[in-house]
Amino acid sequence: MDIRVVARNAVRPAYLPVMTRKIWSRVTCGHDRERSAARAWAEKHAEDMDAWGNGVDPVLWREGARFAGSLAESARPRLAALAEAGVDLGGGGGVELLYLLTRVVRPSLALETGVAAGWSSAAVLAAMRANGTGRLMSSDFPFFRLPDPERYIGYIVPDHLKSGWSLRIRGDRRNLEEFLRPDTMVDLVHYDSDKTRDGREFFLRRVRPHLTARHIIVMDDIQDNLVFREYAERQAHFRVFAYEGKYIGVTGPGLPAVECR
Ligand SMILES: C[S@@+](CC[C@H](N)C(=O)[O-])C[C@H]1O[C@@H](n2cnc3c(N)ncnc32)[C@H](O)[C@@H]1O
Repeated sequence: MDIRVVARNAVRPAYLPVMTRKIWSRVTCGHDRERSAARAWAEKHAEDMDAWGNGVDPVLWREGARFAGSLAESARPRLAALAEAGVDLGGGGGVELLYLLTRVVRPSLALETGVAAGWSSAAVLAAMRANGTGRLMSSDFPFFRLPDPERYIGYIVPDHLKSGWSLRIRGDRRNLEEFLRPDTMVDLVHYDSDKTRDGREFFLRRVRPHLTARHIIVMDDIQDNLVFREYAERQAHFRVFAYEGKYIGVTGPGLPAVECR
């Protein structure tokens, strides 16, 4: 990490509070014991995503898999070219899963945190396009280890999908203030930004009054701490899926019912 780039990004007044919180949480770190308990819990509950998706709706699951394949085909060479220039935008959320859930729930309004290259944003936006309805609000914060990091946010999101998309990049705390007005209600939520306990708990508290009666919450990297477990075990149903070496949790009253455990 080039410390001069980090310092240059850190002194911008709009980014300073988020950068300070991030650096502090890296210093204090998470608790190893909590992390192992969270991973063990996720492992114990994990089920096969493919079997579940097929159980929910085999036609839509295949449609999502086709979209994931075509997105990967167009994005991979572009991301590889960036990687050669030393720019790594990291991995993405569960494209097939988000596509399927968006097709099934048919959200009028969805909210996601954590955009980076834009795998998850592209999945939700493409499924909304297929639905013929829906808007997506995305909250992000630039990767502060990169020079001019703003230009990479949503890098792989195809232009033709961007019409129903609102993107804010000043960190979740500020972005959610702008997105979540008193009468804003969301049907689908994808959380993939600040993975600390504090970040997740803040988000769940902040979004709760804005969830419709049929909402779904998708949370990435639930093996990092026990926040998803604590939340999910208070809900009627939840699901856990293993995905590219991590775990994704899904819960909420809109979760499609399918018995394939
Ligand atoms: C794992 S990546 C998101 C991947 C994305 N969902 C995808 O599928 O391509 C996490 C993103 O969250 C952003 N992030 C981290 N902390 C944040 C915060 N406090 N507020 C908003 N975004 C944050 C990171 O800068 C990064 O862009």
